Amino acid sequence: MLLVALLPLLSLYGDASTYTKGEILYAQKGCNGCHGIYGEGLSNYPRIVHKPHYLLVKKLKFYRSKKGVMNQTAQIMIPFAENLSDSEINYLSVYLSQYKVDENAPKYEMPFETWGDGGS
Ligand code: HEC
Repeated sequence: MLLVALLPLLSLYGDASTYTKGEILYAQKGCNGCHGIYGEGLSNYPRIVHKPHYLLVKKLKFYRSKKGVMNQTAQIMIPFAENLSDSEINYLSVYLSQYKVDENAPKYEMPFETWGDGGS
């Protein structure tokens, strides 16, 4: 009975669930390992949040295709992009382009900097 009552609600928030799928994939596929848990980027790893959806899709499909001119930095992305289906690329791009900071998400223990060369 409760489920029946919830179904129309779910379809209303169709967009939100696409966002959530992207959020889960982002952690599952290990994107946070390089791009940071907020997608904020670090040194060589570009910030990927708040970029246009079409651009994120285009970039991910570009890496996945392994065609065209790619420098060594870009080649880092190939194995991760290869691991994504078209719909997963869409979910991730919806999530990243519409990214909102989740107040309840776990926070870094240590302060971090988004500038500089990563230290050496
Ligand atoms: C091993 C580190 C690493 C992991 C893990 C990783 N990336 Fe990347 N990513 C990079 C690097 C390095 C670049 C810059 C490549 C270039 O210069 O084109 C990049 C570029 C990108 C770009 C293009 C950004 C732009 O504006 O040009 C997107 C989008 C992206 N990554 C998404 C993802 C997603 C989604 C995942 C998880 C499925 C992921 N990345 C996992 C290292 C990583």
